[in-house]
Amino acid sequence: MRVLVTGGAGYIGSHTLLELMAQGHEVCVVDNYCNASPEVLVRIRSLSNGTLVDHIGDVRDSVKLDDIMDGFQPEAVIHFAGLKAVGESQERPLHYYDINVSGTLCLLRAMDRIGCRKIVFSSSATVYGVPKYLPYDEAHPTNPTSVYGRSKLMVEQILTDWTAAQDDTTAVLLRYFNPVGAHASGQIGEDPSDIPNNLMPYIAQVAIGKRDALTVFGDDYDTADGTGLRDYIHVVDLARAHVAALGYADKATGARAFNVGTGQSYSVLDMVAAFERTSGKTIPTKVAARRDGDIAAMQADATRAKHELKWVTEHNLDDMTSSTWVWQSGNPNGYKS
Ligand code: NAD
Ligand code: WQD
Repeated sequence: MRVLVTGGAGYIGSHTLLELMAQGHEVCVVDNYCNASPEVLVRIRSLSNGTLVDHIGDVRDSVKLDDIMDGFQPEAVIHFAGLKAVGESQERPLHYYDINVSGTLCLLRAMDRIGCRKIVFSSSATVYGVPKYLPYDEAHPTNPTSVYGRSKLMVEQILTDWTAAQDDTTAVLLRYFNPVGAHASGQIGEDPSDIPNNLMPYIAQVAIGKRDALTVFGDDYDTADGTGLRDYIHVVDLARAHVAALGYADKATGARAFNVGTGQSYSVLDMVAAFERTSGKTIPTKVAARRDGDIAAMQADATRAKHELKWVTEHNLDDMTSSTWVWQSGNPNGYKS
């Protein structure tokens, strides 16, 4: 299939490009590089002989998108491009709605113009908000607690309306849990441009000596060891869920949401212990107050994805931490290494 990948130079996008090309899909990337390095595509090309074209462009630039669509004629789009920092989204709501929501509207108009009928969208488990029960299934009420989460839910609603109005369209809404890990080559991984907000890249930077210690945000939650529980998923498993979603979109119409997680959860201290075990490094920790907006536990019920996407995870916790360490130790300064 010819697949246009917005935000394909980012963390999840880059891993997905490799999986798509491994399955023989032709890919075209559009990315404005606001949170990515051009080095990513250099490395992807060295790891794959697949067909990959790329364009520097913003998804809000309709003229550019029309040009790209005319040239490539995608049969499907995977839409990763967007902003993802929860704290920043509270400070810059209009910017987040502009890129995440208006950006998607521009993309859909450009797709409509050439008759491209299928989209796979990067949604997030954050659309559920405070759990009424766990594990979350896709029928769990949605009530996001941040601007970022609301922008994702708005896009899900827009895509649902888009498919309702045209009966040959498909929107696969992938609700990711906590993606971590890196490609087995050690060449592709997560490269935060600033102090990491997320647990795994922070632990990796402590291990490499860039940060002194991990601050554990709260050890007084109602969990076995008092720290927060999350459903961490290996980024390569997540990337493969996109390939499975394309297969699903080829046969189905309408909008459908899928949880993309493992169905298991680990605490902050479990993650530290696994990282220490697989890297041989010691991760000093200090406990601080809970982080604003954090919840005690999150976990996916991924049954729907298993049955309808025919997708299951293949990587375990040690694969997640060991691949992160191989990437971080081989690339201490990320793509600038
Ligand atoms: P990322 O920042 O690494 O990737 C996003 C990519 O989009 C970057 O390459 C960035 O340069 C590009 N981009 C941003 N705005 C753009 C624009 N206006 N036009 C063109 N390109 C633009 O993030 P990621 O972790 O790979 O996340 C990919 C998607 O998955 C995002 O939509 C994110 O909200 C969603 N998501 C991520 C997580 C996570 O924890 N990483 C969890 C759930 C959902
Ligand atoms: C995981 C656990 C923290 C950092 C966020 C977004 C979510 C999704 C994924 C995009 C929590 C603890 C963390 C640290 C810590 N992104 N922690 N010290 O908050 O579950 O989800 O990323 O859609 O929308 O909210 O992930 O990695 O930040 O935190 O103790 O320095 O690690 O409190 O329990 P989170 P995270």
